Amino acid sequence: MKSQGLVGVVGAGYVGIATATVLASWGLATVLVENNPDRFALLGERRIPFFEPELEKVLVEVAESGTLRFSRTLEDLADADVVLVCVGTPPTATGALDLMALEQVVERLVEVARRGAVIVIKSTVPPGTTTRLAGVVATRRPDLPLVSCPEFLQEGSCLDDVRRPSRVVVGGADATACRKVAALFAPGGAPVIITDATSAELVKYGANAFPATKISFVNELSHFCDLVGADVTVVAAGIGADPRIGPAFLRAGLGFGGSCFPKDVHALEDLGASLGYQSLLLKACSEINAQQKDRVVAKIRDALGGTLRGRRVAVLGVAFKPGTDDLRQAPALDVVGKLIAEGALVAATDPVAAPGPPELPREATFVADVYRCIEGADALLLATEWPEYRSLDWERVRSLMHGNVIVDGRNFLDGVRLVELRFDYHGVGRPALSRPTSRSDDAAGPGPAR
Ligand code: UGA
Repeated sequence: MKSQGLVGVVGAGYVGIATATVLASWGLATVLVENNPDRFALLGERRIPFFEPELEKVLVEVAESGTLRFSRTLEDLADADVVLVCVGTPPTATGALDLMALEQVVERLVEVARRGAVIVIKSTVPPGTTTRLAGVVATRRPDLPLVSCPEFLQEGSCLDDVRRPSRVVVGGADATACRKVAALFAPGGAPVIITDATSAELVKYGANAFPATKISFVNELSHFCDLVGADVTVVAAGIGADPRIGPAFLRAGLGFGGSCFPKDVHALEDLGASLGYQSLLLKACSEINAQQKDRVVAKIRDALGGTLRGRRVAVLGVAFKPGTDDLRQAPALDVVGKLIAEGALVAATDPVAAPGPPELPREATFVADVYRCIEGADALLLATEWPEYRSLDWERVRSLMHGNVIVDGRNFLDGVRLVELRFDYHGVGRPALSRPTSRSDDAAGPGPAR
C-alpha cells in the first residue's frame, strides 16, 4: 500500500469511531473529530458513548499508542490527506433527512483542508448528494475531490465489519481520489468496486432495503403460516437453504428496527416519490414491518382472553436487537406503547439498555432485574432475543408469574420445554403450544398472585 499521511474522521458515532479505530489499528495516524462536548469528554477518558465492548477495547489500545488522537475542531484536520465524514443524517419530522451537520462539515473543510485533500462522504445520504456537494465545493476549491464510500457495518459487530468488510465501494468523478480512498481499506482484503458517486450511494440504500424487504417477506410468510397452521421457522429454513435466497435475514418476528433499516427504506421510497415514482415494494416493506407489532399485540390480547385492560405484561428486551444498547426505532418500545394504549400495565427489562422517558412511555416501568420485572405478570413478551433470556431459570419465572402466557416475539425460546413447565407458548407464525389440562395441573394451579 502506498504510504498515507494523516487521516481525519469526523463524527464519533458507530461509523466514525469504528472506522477511526480500525484505520489507527492498521498503523495510520488518525484524528477523530467530535464537536459534542459530552462525547468528546468520553473519548478523552477512552470510552465510547454506546455499548460495543470489543470496539472500546481496541480504541483504548490505539489511543494509548498515540496512533488515534481526538479533537474538537476541524482545524486539526488541516494536514489530513483524506477526511472521512461520518456525521449523522437523522430523519426530520417530515421524514426528509437532515443534512445540515454534513453540509456544515464540508463547508468548513473547504476553508481548512490542505491542497488536494480527499473528502469522503461515509454518512448515508440520498443518491445525488455527493455529486451535488462536489459541485458546490468545486466553485471554491476545485482541488478538493469529493467521493462517496458508504459503510456497511452492523451494530454489535462494528469492529469486525470495518476490519473485514465484504466489499469496499468508492464512487466519485476523480478516479485517483477513489483509488486513494480504497487503498486506506486495503488491509481488510475486500474486493473493491470503484464507480460514480450516485451509484455508490444507491448501493448503500439497496444494501439496506434488500435485507429489510427479506425480513418483511418472511414476516408476510409468517402471516400465511398463522392462517394455515404452518411453522415459519421451518419454512424460512426451507427457503433459505436455496443458495439463490440464503438463510440470512429470514427470522420472522417483531420486525426490523434500528437507526438504519426503517430510515433508509423510507428515504429510498421518498427519493422515488420526489422523482415521480411510487415504490410499491418499499411501501409494502414498511407497512408489513409496522403490522408485525400489531399482530404481536393481538396475540397477547387473545392469549389473555380478549382484553389487555388491567393485565400485567412483562417485556423482555427493549434494545432494537441484542448486542446493542441502541433504542432507536426499537420494535419493543413501539409494542410497549400499544400495550399501554390498550390499558395494560407494562414492566420492561433489558440486560444493557436502560430506557427512561421519552423513549419509554411514562406509564411503563423499567426494571433492570429480569426476575423482578416478571414478578406478578399475566403474560411475558420476549421482544429482543438476548441470549441470556434463553437460559433464564424458567421454573423460577413460572413461580414468579401470575399467569402462564409467553409470547415469543422473536421465535427464540424453547417452546416445547416451556410447555412442559406449564406455560402457554405463542410464537410468531407457528402454532401455539400448550399442555392439555390434566387433573394434576388443576391441582397445581397458577403461580402466586402478586
Ligand atoms: C444495518 C445493516 O445490517 C448494516 O449492513 C448497515 O451498515 C447498517 O444497518 C447501517 O446502515 O448503518 P443494524 O442497524 O446494526 O445494521 O442492524 P441489523 O443487524 O441489520 O438488524 C436490523 C433489524 O432487523 C433489527 O431490529 C433486527 O432485529 C431485525 N432483523 C434482522 C429481523 O427482524 N430478522 C432478521 O432475520 C434479521
